[in-house]
Amino acid sequence: MADPRPTKLEAYRSEAVARDYDQRWAGLIGTKRDARKAKALERALACLEGHCGESAASLLDIPCGTGRFSRLWDDRNLHVFGADLALPMLHEAREKYPDSTYLAADMVKLPLADASVDVTICIRFMHLVRDPDLRVRFLKELRRVSRMGVILDYRHGHTLRVWGRHLRYRVGMREGKPANPTPRQVRAEIDKAGFKRLDWIAVHRAPLLSDKVLIPVVQADSPPTKS
Ligand SMILES: C[S@@+](CC[C@H](N)C(=O)[O-])C[C@H]1O[C@@H](n2cnc3c(N)ncnc32)[C@H](O)[C@@H]1O
Repeated sequence: MADPRPTKLEAYRSEAVARDYDQRWAGLIGTKRDARKAKALERALACLEGHCGESAASLLDIPCGTGRFSRLWDDRNLHVFGADLALPMLHEAREKYPDSTYLAADMVKLPLADASVDVTICIRFMHLVRDPDLRVRFLKELRRVSRMGVILDYRHGHTLRVWGRHLRYRVGMREGKPANPTPRQVRAEIDKAGFKRLDWIAVHRAPLLSDKVLIPVVQADSPPTKS
């Protein structure tokens, strides 16, 4: 199968980009955005654990980037595996969180056995992969290695901002057509990869203002919620 690698993702192989990456979460607005995502992540993890009736012991963060969320798992006795394709990003993560296990890995084919981690998180990635078939291929690989489930981060197209972009595109004020999938397309991709959705967690309090959503998913044939 052709592998249309998104050029945007190649940028992270630069040492300068990796060094400056965390600046995005600095300052008042950045810190607030980071905290909102962290809160939604905790909610998504609780949802997965509630569904499985057990606490996760290991967590794969792919792509881990500079380890943005590692501090969240510090108090939970979770063993964290951080995986990323870009060595400079892994280097930054290791500097900050030396206790995690790191692997340089391509999400297309992970060097991990089936069901070898409890939970996987995949944050700030899918929206950079413009090809829906490639997204499904990545999703299937995440499903293969995750025993309990996966937390997916998507950016969908049903927001005022994306509708504004469509409008600008139609009147010729924007070059590229917005690529955000609709919520329906997101759900179809997730189903196609063999997952069942447990929730749809808007990261922002006002969902129409923000396209970000976290989706905890489990294997499609996973038994119903244990109580
Ligand atoms: C926008 S960053 C997100 C990092 C982190 N999840 C976060 O929330 O900050 C995207 C990351 O994807 C990594 N990446 C790109 N292609 C990849 C692939 N095929 N497999 C694994 N990681 C990849 C890049 O190196 C980069 O670190």
